[in-house]
Amino acid sequence: MTKISGFSKFSKDEKIAWLTTKYFDNAQKARELLQLYWNSDLKLQKLHDEFSENTISNFYLPFGVAPNFTINNKVYAIPMTIEESSVIAAASKAAKFWNDKGGFSAKVIDTQKVGQVHFTYAGNFSTLKDFFHKNKAQLLKETENITANMVKRGGGILDLELRDKTKDLENYYQLYCTFETLDAMGANFINSCLEQIASSFKNLAIQQLDDKKPQVIMSILSNYVPNCIAHAEVSCPVADLLDEKEEAKLFAQKFVEAVKIAQIEPYRAVTHNKGIMNGIDAVILATGNDFRAVEAGVHAYAARNGQYSSLTQASIENGIFKFWIEVPLALGTVGGLTSLHPLVKLALEMLGKPSAKELMQIVAVAGLAQNFAALKSLVTTGIQEGHMKMHLMNILNQFQATNSEKEKVIEYFKSHTVSHSSVVKVLENIRNGA
Ligand code: MEV
Repeated sequence: MTKISGFSKFSKDEKIAWLTTKYFDNAQKARELLQLYWNSDLKLQKLHDEFSENTISNFYLPFGVAPNFTINNKVYAIPMTIEESSVIAAASKAAKFWNDKGGFSAKVIDTQKVGQVHFTYAGNFSTLKDFFHKNKAQLLKETENITANMVKRGGGILDLELRDKTKDLENYYQLYCTFETLDAMGANFINSCLEQIASSFKNLAIQQLDDKKPQVIMSILSNYVPNCIAHAEVSCPVADLLDEKEEAKLFAQKFVEAVKIAQIEPYRAVTHNKGIMNGIDAVILATGNDFRAVEAGVHAYAARNGQYSSLTQASIENGIFKFWIEVPLALGTVGGLTSLHPLVKLALEMLGKPSAKELMQIVAVAGLAQNFAALKSLVTTGIQEGHMKMHLMNILNQFQATNSEKEKVIEYFKSHTVSHSSVVKVLENIRNGA
């Protein structure tokens, strides 16, 4: 198709005019659709335009809420941004299920983040080691301008190590740095510190190392945060799981078996964890956090023992059913979108303006609740029954059903099994007056 140079310099109108005339049969219709999604509040629209680049419209996602979540004896209404039907309904159901069984308990295990200066060095390792140890304090000192505020609040750089990676890649070493970034996700802070360390490291090497000089390749945070972990759990006597005692026992056994399958079988583990991420991503998006960073870190963590495995675990011991999750979550409740996006601010207020640690616990609970709801359906009725009921509205909207058509179709499917074709047929019958 057509190429263009200088596109980013165009005004928004010019971008749309160029794009719609080049790529659409009906330029006017395409333009009108893009404009339909603009916000009439120009200030708000400008704010959204400036979140990223080459913006031409807004892309809406539903913003919903799952109420009645009891976490550590506090009740939350959890904001969730997600396009998939059934997810919020499932979370709400899980919240309600656990409410009269003591709710969820959660804690933060650790909050350590990681960044690395990756470099090569062809000289002698002991020379490099001596050089590093001699200069470590100076390397840290030269970050003080960047770290001063964070240190004042109790965070900052935790440690800086030299790591020899030459067994894996010739001449490859790292300055491996750990951070405490408190309520900030900390990406900018970490990257600024790393770039400063890299620059100091280079300068000191020029002054002090005679022969071979280290070559800095790159300095960047890691989204793998196996020491920034939240734990959430639920437990109750097996007999309390369902009304009927024998059914409850069978349910608990099948549930635990389903989790074990996800622990040893990667095909199942991926879908199992995908369900967990339905809950986690939805809260992360609503609270303005970086879901790609969390996704990448979570899946690496799920494979930390060499095989991709379940993030959750379950047990039955002495008649007690226990179900828990441990998940790496590098989250922020200050900085970034959290102070810019009005709906993110609203979401955080809905949660009682949590600290990053509290948000980690809420997000872990959302993931656990989602997994509980999915497994509960899977080992009992199957997921399609509930899922298709929720999907019904999507099908009706796809066929532009009127309110009265929707009412009739929903009534009909209260006592019939939903499938795409059966919904279409019933709708057709209504439209044909049958
Ligand atoms: C669908 O989005 C998520 C599930 O497939 C998760 C699971 O199978 O555990 C229902």
